[in-house]
Amino acid sequence: MEALSKNFFLLLSNSSVLDKMAKKWGPRLGADKIVGGESFDQAIPLIQQLNSQGLHVTVDHLGEYVNSESEARERAEECISTIQAIHNHQLNTQLSLKLTSLGLDISHELVHENMTRILEAAKQYDVVVTIDMEDSSRTEKTLELYKHFKKDYDNLGTVIQSYLFRSNQDVEELSDYNAYLRLVKGAYKESGKVAFTEKSMVDDNLKKLIAKHLLNGNYTAIASHDEAMIDFTKDFVEKNNIPKDQFEFQMLYGMRNQMQLDLLQEGYKVRVYLPYGEDWYGYFMRRLAERPANIAFAVKGLFSK
Ligand code: FDA
Repeated sequence: MEALSKNFFLLLSNSSVLDKMAKKWGPRLGADKIVGGESFDQAIPLIQQLNSQGLHVTVDHLGEYVNSESEARERAEECISTIQAIHNHQLNTQLSLKLTSLGLDISHELVHENMTRILEAAKQYDVVVTIDMEDSSRTEKTLELYKHFKKDYDNLGTVIQSYLFRSNQDVEELSDYNAYLRLVKGAYKESGKVAFTEKSMVDDNLKKLIAKHLLNGNYTAIASHDEAMIDFTKDFVEKNNIPKDQFEFQMLYGMRNQMQLDLLQEGYKVRVYLPYGEDWYGYFMRRLAERPANIAFAVKGLFSK
């Protein structure tokens, strides 16, 4: 049943018709509980509030799979003005972005040009940028670009997904780049040819990747709401004398709020991933696929006045 509903929502996450309809229904689906507003300006008070609680933030302008050059350039502009606003408002936040929003599927030149402009601004204003990881057909290109840019821009991170068979090798290679990695289980629908399909194997692999990247001496973000993963990390860092400034926990905005605060209380660094923008549909559907309990507030939102 769980696998069925996961597949159902992952399938819906790719529907452009439903995407258009969802924009009309707006936050009534409950998206406002996990999205920080439709514009960066709307997200600012929320970031300030999270910061005042001691939480670090990474913001993400929602939207992916852009297939027009002008839109990809607009997305890059949005990233640059977000970086400037982060600086102007002295916000404690990083920027997360998806390469398919910047032209990855259009041309190498375009995504390269857009990323260069964004990373120049990030360097000027000292803002850390993390490249989110999308589906496996884009992993190779994403990591190639990451390695290329990491040489010139140190404030750059990316994401590795433990469901992919290749990830162990990727983490090993990325160690040569002293990579800032966010380690996750993975949110896309992948075939058994490239990814573990059993949850227990995905979980085990995430533990292996966390251990490997930390022992290789690299800064590691453990991005999971899974208590078992968090307990594993706490135990591992203690046994291996890994200092608290070599890792952080990351969670999505609106998920496990109390756990975020508990970790803070225990002295751990916690970062909240806060998406904003009008294109919340695909993000929202992937979250439903991960945790069908989220359906409750979506259905409630649909039928409330
Ligand atoms: P998982 O979904 O495996 O759940 C394990 C257990 O945790 C559940 O059984 C339940 O007990 C508990 N749990 C989980 N969510 C809960 C909730 N909301 N409330 C209460 N209990 C809950 N993916 C990707 O492919 N590319 C990316 O770039 C990113 N980026 C990213 C950033 C950040 C900050 C996070 C937290 C996640 C991502 N992801 C991602 C998504 C990631 O790949 C994964 O799909 C989700 O985090 C879900 O997996 P979990 O490890 O959180 O737990």
